[in-house]
Amino acid sequence: MRPLSGCCYHAARGFLGHLLAELPDRDRLDGELITVLGPPRRVYWTRNVWETPFVFDFSSVGEAAKLLRGIQRNWAPYPTRHHRRTALIAEKLPPLPHKPKRFPFELPTAPMGAFMLLDEHTMLASPQCSSPFPNGEFEFEEDREGPPSRAYRKLWEALALAGVMPQPGETCVDAGAAPGGWTWALAGLGAEVLAIDRAPLEPRIAALPRVRSLRHDAFTLRPDDIGPVDWLCSDVICYPPALLAWVEKWLESGRARNFICTIKMQGSSFDKATTDRFAAIPGSRVIHLWHNRHELCWIKVEGDRGSGSPHA
Ligand SMILES: C[S@@+](CC[C@H](N)C(=O)[O-])C[C@H]1O[C@@H](n2cnc3c(N)ncnc32)[C@H](O)[C@@H]1O
Repeated sequence: MRPLSGCCYHAARGFLGHLLAELPDRDRLDGELITVLGPPRRVYWTRNVWETPFVFDFSSVGEAAKLLRGIQRNWAPYPTRHHRRTALIAEKLPPLPHKPKRFPFELPTAPMGAFMLLDEHTMLASPQCSSPFPNGEFEFEEDREGPPSRAYRKLWEALALAGVMPQPGETCVDAGAAPGGWTWALAGLGAEVLAIDRAPLEPRIAALPRVRSLRHDAFTLRPDDIGPVDWLCSDVICYPPALLAWVEKWLESGRARNFICTIKMQGSSFDKATTDRFAAIPGSRVIHLWHNRHELCWIKVEGDRGSGSPHA
């Protein structure tokens, strides 16, 4: 077994181009997995980071599976070549959890590893990965009737990763709320929600208990217009600097305790400068959620269990 002094970065679904741009000095590219030797890098467009990679040579499928099993239970295959041989190794390993998750849930604590074949007799593997889910992927048990959009899955994922939920009676602002997926999710946790959007909420969401709605440009409302809130959430479609300017007003005012905000990228571009400014806000992190599209999630939550981790 030969440890690699570096990390392997598995690109967020659909965003290999952004990750390649973030890691121009890569040492290897296997499928959508970029290996960079040296200290860990702070990048955004990943679904998973292989944090303790090693390479080993093996002669048989049985030998490869035995070595992995001897390290830990969970290993996600990431086949980019030798698909059949990779599948044969995976078949000899304990099955991975695959059932959709019912929200709220506790993050799995058992380590989730990942492996791939570099050639027929050489494996690249990592017992520790940044995501507790196989290759960073997981699905929720979806509610097909309650929410008016599927955007609520992003908020659920951010809350599950933080390990902190809005509590019954806590106050939330949901900016860019229409048609009401996030508002539905927040009200469902028992929180009091002020849903702000220039467009109307779906009427049945506006009529939910604990929901007040306001037709307004969220960014022209100052913290003093709204008052103290426990959670400031935003899924507003806007240029990232507009969101940052609004968030900075809230930070200066000290009137919001927790933040979950979607940083939406415009067109096919990535506003790295503004994203770096979000990520530099103390006590916060920026990640690409499995349920994000061309957007990132900025999380600043008291007691966030993922803050401080190099790739969280
Ligand atoms: C992606 S949608 C939000 C989806 C919503 N989170 C849900 O779960 O259903 C973005 C919303 O941002 C709203 N929006 C755009 N600019 C805004 C602004 N300046 N103030 C308030 N809302 C805005 C749009 O009207 C749109 O409804």
